[in-house]
Amino acid sequence: MQRSFLLVGKIDMEMMTDKKEDSLVLVKQGAEARVFESQFVGRRSIVKERFSKKYRHPTLDSKLTQKRLNAEARCIAKARRLGVPTPVLYAVDPVLNSLTFEYVEGPSVKDVFLDFGIHGVVEEKMDDIAMQIGHAIGKLHDGGLAHGDLTTSNMLIRSSTNQLVLIDFGLSFTSSLPEDKAVDLYVLERALLSMHSSCGNVMDKILAAYRKSSKQWCSTLNKLGQARKEGRIKMTQNKADKGNKYKKVDMKWIKRWISASVTGFANNILTLHMNHRDKQHTTL
Ligand SMILES: Nc1ncnc2c1ncn2[C@@H]1O[C@H](COP(=O)(O)OP(=O)(O)OP(=O)(O)O)[C@@H](O)[C@H]1O
Ligand SMILES: [Mg+2]
Repeated sequence: MQRSFLLVGKIDMEMMTDKKEDSLVLVKQGAEARVFESQFVGRRSIVKERFSKKYRHPTLDSKLTQKRLNAEARCIAKARRLGVPTPVLYAVDPVLNSLTFEYVEGPSVKDVFLDFGIHGVVEEKMDDIAMQIGHAIGKLHDGGLAHGDLTTSNMLIRSSTNQLVLIDFGLSFTSSLPEDKAVDLYVLERALLSMHSSCGNVMDKILAAYRKSSKQWCSTLNKLGQARKEGRIKMTQNKADKGNKYKKVDMKWIKRWISASVTGFANNILTLHMNHRDKQHTTL
């Protein structure tokens, strides 16, 4: 596969000329991206390649893919500048729409917590992980960045140092709104409740650390309270509404999804219109 990298940071050029075509081993096939393990100038690396969506207009598809690729690269770089542990971004390939990251050796928080669920919680380890999660999110939020997909699969524990590393900034965006930050925390809370309920109340520990790290914790936690209340009301309504197969779907997410779909649809129409107008101009 021919790759045309834009290198991020300093890279040893001698090593670069020695570089042979590296093999890619598929790690994960997602809905938007494929993740491979590979080698980058002699270092173990992760390549995340965004692929095109056939149902989208080609011009729009390429613009959206580029936009998301750049957004992910920008957000992970910003998080790192804020002092949030993330993998080093080695390179951006705007032709193959891929990002190359440092490979972080170690399990995901999801795997650690699932293991606690099976073999019992190691309290000291749990407290340390929860504290690191709270601090990382606090720094991210105070720097004006919302992660957008805070689940335990998107957090790794570096084996050599036991340091928490945040990954997957594909849905991240800049925001200083407490409601966006609260949604981040709410998503994490729901993920913990549904996947790791046997680990006890990890969220309280995470929030205790978050309060210490984030100067704006008060407004964010107020909004988190509102999000929980709305979620609970919806759950009660859903329980009463027997036979409804969409029982536990949170209204906020439906609203977000509708708004994203409407924007996507409007963009599609706009691109088609612009293409049609360009064609008319060339024939004139
Ligand atoms: N830097 C890394 N080091 C080690 N493993 C990684 C790294 N980045 C990703 N992975 C592994 O690949 C998996 C998928 O990566 P990632 O979460 O970035 O993609 P995704 O969930 O498919 O992305 P998206 O949600 O944007 O579609 C992770 O859960 C993790 O197991
Ligand atoms: Mg992920």
